[in-house]
Amino acid sequence: MSSPLLLDGSVALVTGASSGIGREIAGLLAGRVRALVLVARRADRLESLRNELRTRYADLSVTPMPCDVGNEAEVAKLIARVRAEIGSVDVLVNAAGLGLDGLLDRADWERIRQLLNVNVIAVVHLTQAFLPDMVARGRGGILNIGSGAGLTVLPSAAAYVASKHFIDGFSEALRADLAGTGVVVTQVAPGPVDSEFDQVAGSVGGMRGGPPRFVRIGAEQCAREAIAGFERGEALVFPGRPYRFIMRFLLPLLSRAARRRRAERSARRIRAR
Ligand SMILES: NC(=O)c1ccc[n+]([C@@H]2O[C@H](COP(=O)([O-])OP(=O)(O)OC[C@H]3O[C@@H](n4cnc5c(N)ncnc54)[C@H](OP(=O)(O)O)[C@@H]3O)[C@@H](O)[C@H]2O)c1
Repeated sequence: MSSPLLLDGSVALVTGASSGIGREIAGLLAGRVRALVLVARRADRLESLRNELRTRYADLSVTPMPCDVGNEAEVAKLIARVRAEIGSVDVLVNAAGLGLDGLLDRADWERIRQLLNVNVIAVVHLTQAFLPDMVARGRGGILNIGSGAGLTVLPSAAAYVASKHFIDGFSEALRADLAGTGVVVTQVAPGPVDSEFDQVAGSVGGMRGGPPRFVRIGAEQCAREAIAGFERGEALVFPGRPYRFIMRFLLPLLSRAARRRRAERSARRIRAR
């Protein structure tokens, strides 16, 4: 485990702050950090969150920075704006993300491209931009919101599953590279969480082939457990006790071949519909 992360008095940037897990993380960080940068496309939502947080924490600086992180040029502008107006970022939370429910051969390329840009490219771009200052100062943290889907195989969501496998590999490899630097890298791999995610992904009732419904948790609980694990310097956080039990103890009992067969059976049924 790496050294504990110092959230108090830090400067944090949260992507995906307009909804769900990212919004809840921003709300919880607000009571701890000195400055908060809120990133998402929906400017009105960021503005109302800013007003809400400033009412609760008068000394907190909150800056909404609307940005489509699926657009590389906009991300570059965001990075320049943060450097000019805020300076260094101590804590980066990569929570913006989207799913896409459907077989790849029936999916729309523009939606796949958007998913890969938001879930993968933007995460690396933002991390790479803010990391050098963290390493130079010998403190900081990157909190990546991955998914349980990134640790197994699920049917009818190949691009999404792969994007979250990327987050797993990226978080683990980066964490190893940063050993001894004072910079913490934590991956959160949630199961089903109440948010706008399913609606955006076009999946009714959650991702197919995922864990049972009773493990579903609220976004606030997910955020709280994510931050607690991040502060402890944990590598991987599974929010929610029943889900954590499944991921730690039951999933490893299924071989890769067994998981593959299970996903294949579900995908055949989906394709036949
Ligand atoms: N909910 C689940 O069941 C679940 C499970 C496992 C993992 N996750 C992961 O958790 C993360 C957060 O999802 P959520 O559940 O909180 O879903 P959500 O309620 O749909 O929130 C997604 C956030 O990402 C932002 N976003 C999406 N596309 C964007 C873009 N192009 N540019 C900037 N921001 C963008 C959205 O803001 P705008 O629309 O305003 O841009 C929103 O703030 C995602 O990475 C997701 O993969 C979710």
